[in-house]
Amino acid sequence: MTTGDWPPLPETIHTPRLLLRQFSLADAEDVFAYRRDPEVGRFIPFRQPFERRHADVFVATQVLADPCERCVWALEQKGQVVGGVSLELDRRMARAELGYELARWLWGRGLMVEAASAVIDQAFDRLPIIKLTATATAPNVRSTRVLEKLGMRREALLRQHWVHEGRVLDEVRYGLLREEWKELPAANSEP
Ligand SMILES: CC(C)(COP(=O)(O)OP(=O)(O)OC[C@H]1O[C@@H](n2cnc3c(N)ncnc32)[C@H](O)[C@@H]1OP(=O)(O)O)[C@@H](O)C(=O)NCCC(=O)NCCS
Repeated sequence: MTTGDWPPLPETIHTPRLLLRQFSLADAEDVFAYRRDPEVGRFIPFRQPFERRHADVFVATQVLADPCERCVWALEQKGQVVGGVSLELDRRMARAELGYELARWLWGRGLMVEAASAVIDQAFDRLPIIKLTATATAPNVRSTRVLEKLGMRREALLRQHWVHEGRVLDEVRYGLLREEWKELPAANSEP
């Protein structure tokens, strides 16, 4: 995965329970299977109801993503795509912004912490970033808990900052500095 003047990130990453790999157009059916669940889209901005054709557009967008700007991995478990992890790269500010989603039938098993911590390790290992950032809506407690378990610190609360499906929500911003990442216990990447 080329990242322009930054070193490339690996196209595949193995974790104990997941394979992180590039999306392909053939993944649309798997993406539809988990994104059609409205709970998955409750706090992330994609069209509701999520139809099969939206899955085609989604996977095409991931396949065509410019890795100089956005690195994205499909999460594969037992041959099925069950989510994704992304990094938006900001060279000028030497930052990367983390994003993720997981099929609801797999929530509550620590899988996203496993996947995201592997991506964070690659980002700090290979890219000259000074900081990793992430954003969640305040009521998305599953996500904010994941960010805290990744060792990220809550830095800001933005009031009435996110409008989706007729709701106006507060947004929380998290950050992890390179020196904080270095201090994280290795256990953070264990399932
Ligand atoms: C965010 C997401 C990836 C987390 O999935 P997950 O890895 O299964 O997370 P878990 O179910 O293990 O929950 C994470 C933590 O939140 C806690 N949690 C869950 N529901 C909670 C609630 N209602 N109140 C408080 N804490 C809660 C869990 O106890 C867990 O913490 P613990 O391991 O310390 O017990 C998943 O919910 C998802 O894909 N959501 C839809 C997409 C999304 O919102 N992406 C994030 C955009 S910022």
